[in-house]
Amino acid sequence: MKQYTSLNDIKNLNTLVKKAIQLKNNPFQYSHLGKNKTLIMLFFNASLRTRLSTEKAAKNLGMEVSILNINATWNIEFEEGTIMNLNTSEHIKEAAQVISQYGDILAIRAFPSLTDKEKDTAEWVLQSFQNYASIPIVNMESATDHPLQALADAITLEEHKTVQKPKVVLSWAPHPKALPHSVPNAFVHLMHRMSDTIDFVITHPKGYELDTKVTKNASIVYNQEEALQDADFVYTKNWSSFSDYGKILPMDTNDTNSTNHTNWTITQEKLGNAKFMHCLPIRRNVVAEDAVLDGNNSLVIAQANNRTYAAQVVLQEILMGLV
Ligand code: CP
Repeated sequence: MKQYTSLNDIKNLNTLVKKAIQLKNNPFQYSHLGKNKTLIMLFFNASLRTRLSTEKAAKNLGMEVSILNINATWNIEFEEGTIMNLNTSEHIKEAAQVISQYGDILAIRAFPSLTDKEKDTAEWVLQSFQNYASIPIVNMESATDHPLQALADAITLEEHKTVQKPKVVLSWAPHPKALPHSVPNAFVHLMHRMSDTIDFVITHPKGYELDTKVTKNASIVYNQEEALQDADFVYTKNWSSFSDYGKILPMDTNDTNSTNHTNWTITQEKLGNAKFMHCLPIRRNVVAEDAVLDGNNSLVIAQANNRTYAAQVVLQEILMGLV
């Protein structure tokens, strides 16, 4: 593997998932691979799981880890040809080349602006690093994608499925803040890759359609109750509108004070016997009620645990490809 910026960088998903599951039995079996190699992790945004699991994964492989929070360094300029006489101090051209001299793999977290659809869709920050860095890049959640989360979710689905072709529902849920599309996009990418072994349905209120370049021919059911019928897994996530870019939509277009769609919260009654999945962090009793998160069918802690093995198998594949 030369890089991991999307699920497209995985040739055989099934093989990689099986390798990740095997790693759990002996996480240190490849601890020689990362000797004298450094993972640099750049964070433009906050993280709990991605930061700790990726660091743990790198250390399991014997790597050194350097972590840089971008708000603690120079403001980076991404525009070409700018006269840098305002508040940016260092251009991406120098920054990416300099960082590449200090590490062997560069992992980046850079959320979307949710205001500039064109730049977000073009993966402005991640793509700029790809243009100027000379070491492999790992996407730790970008403007439109979260492939490490998707790989962890693939591992979790494999470990917890009890029927040959489970029904998996991606359900939108309410949230007080406008959130990115990266996690649902990544999950939809995953569902396309697993389409032979999964029945997949997306449910959300009208107006919350994801980018059709991502959803393609996926089944969309606007009635949540109907979509959830006979589900084996319910993957829940909030996202903001893509068409009315980055906005939380009023529930009724005639009533601009009504904004929450609170009737979309996942309850134990709606979940039934299905397994509950969410990438975390989650707002309790907004996205899903306590009974769901504290119930036996919640997989959220298992998903978070699998973030380590998803990151480890990716770093392992990249390290094997380094000369
Ligand atoms: N799921 C996830 O990426 O969690 P963090 O934002 O805490 O890294």
